[in-house]
Amino acid sequence: MSKFSGNILITGASTGIGEACTLHMAKLGYRVFAGVRKEKDAERLQQQDSQKIVPVYLDVLNEKQIKQAVSQIAESVGDNGLQGLVNNAGIAVVGPLEYLPLEDIRRQIEINVYGQIAVTQSVLELLRQGQGRIVNMSSLSGRFAFPLYGAYAASKFALEAITDALRRELAPWKMHVASIEPGVIRTPIWEKSLKTNETTLDQLPAEAYERYGERIEAARKGAARSGKGGLPPEEVAKVVAHALTARRPKTRYVLGRNAKPLVFLTRILPDWLLDRITAASS
Ligand SMILES: NC(=O)c1ccc[n+]([C@@H]2O[C@H](COP(=O)([O-])OP(=O)(O)OC[C@H]3O[C@@H](n4cnc5c(N)ncnc54)[C@H](OP(=O)(O)O)[C@@H]3O)[C@@H](O)[C@H]2O)c1
Repeated sequence: MSKFSGNILITGASTGIGEACTLHMAKLGYRVFAGVRKEKDAERLQQQDSQKIVPVYLDVLNEKQIKQAVSQIAESVGDNGLQGLVNNAGIAVVGPLEYLPLEDIRRQIEINVYGQIAVTQSVLELLRQGQGRIVNMSSLSGRFAFPLYGAYAASKFALEAITDALRRELAPWKMHVASIEPGVIRTPIWEKSLKTNETTLDQLPAEAYERYGERIEAARKGAARSGKGGLPPEEVAKVVAHALTARRPKTRYVLGRNAKPLVFLTRILPDWLLDRITAASS
C-alpha cells in the first residue's frame, strides 16, 4: 500500500454527510476521491486537505463523467485499487403520491438508485483489485415509508434490496456491502428539498391542497425543523468509517434519534397499528 491507509471514493461529497465522511476518512489517513459537481465545492474540499482529498467531478447521472472520474482514479491508485466506495449522493422528493409529477418521481429514483448502481458497476473492478468495501447511504426511510415520503422511501427501499443482493453476490470475493440507515441528520438536504419541492408543491392543483393541504404544511414545517435538528453528519461519518474499516463490519447501521426504537416497532407491530400511530403523529 502507498503512504495512504487506502483509497476511498465518496459520491455527493459537497455538503452534509458526504462532506463529513470525506473529512473524517481523510483524517484517518485515507486518500479520498470526493465526488462533486461544482468547482467551488472542489476548491473548498481541496483546501481542507490538499494531500488526502482529491475532488473528482461526478454527477451520478452522467455516464461520461463517471467514466472520466473512474479513469482518473484508476490512474492515481494503480495496483492498490480502491478500498472503499461510499454511495452517498441523493435527493429527497416530498409530496403526495397521488399528485407528484412522474418526472419528479423518476428523478428521485434515477439519482438515488440508478446513479448508485452506475457508479458501483464502474468501480467494481477497482474495488475487487483493492479488496474494497461498499457502503450505501440508505435511510430510516429504507425501513419505513412515512406519508408524503413515498417517492423517497421507494428509492431507499430499492437501495436496501440492492445492498443485500450485492453483498450476497460479492461474498465469494469477501467484499462487504453495508447499508447506513440514518434518521434525521442536520444537513442541507432538507433546505434543498424544500427549495426544489416548493416548485413542485406550488404547481400541484388546488384539489391536492384541499385533500392533503394540512399534511403538506406539516411536511414543510417538518423539513424546516429537520434542517436545524437531528444528529450532526459527523456521527454518520463515524459509522461509515466502521463499515469501511472494522474487522467485523455490520450489514446495517441504524442511527439517529428514535431510529432504533422505530425500526424495532416496525418489526413487531402489525401494519394496522403502525398506520394508526403514523396517522396520529403526522
Ligand atoms: N439528512 C438526513 O436526514 C438523511 C437521513 C437519511 C439518509 N440521508 C441520505 O444521505 C445522503 C446524503 O444526504 P445529505 O443529507 O448529506 O444531503 P446533502 O447535503 O444535500 O448532500 C447530498 C449530496 O448529493 C449530491 N447530489 C445530488 N444529486 C446528485 C447527482 N445527480 N450526482 C451526484 N451528486 C449528487 C449533492 O451534490 P450538490 O451539492 O452538487 O447538489 C450533495 O453533495 C443522501 O443519500 C440522503 O438520502 C440523509
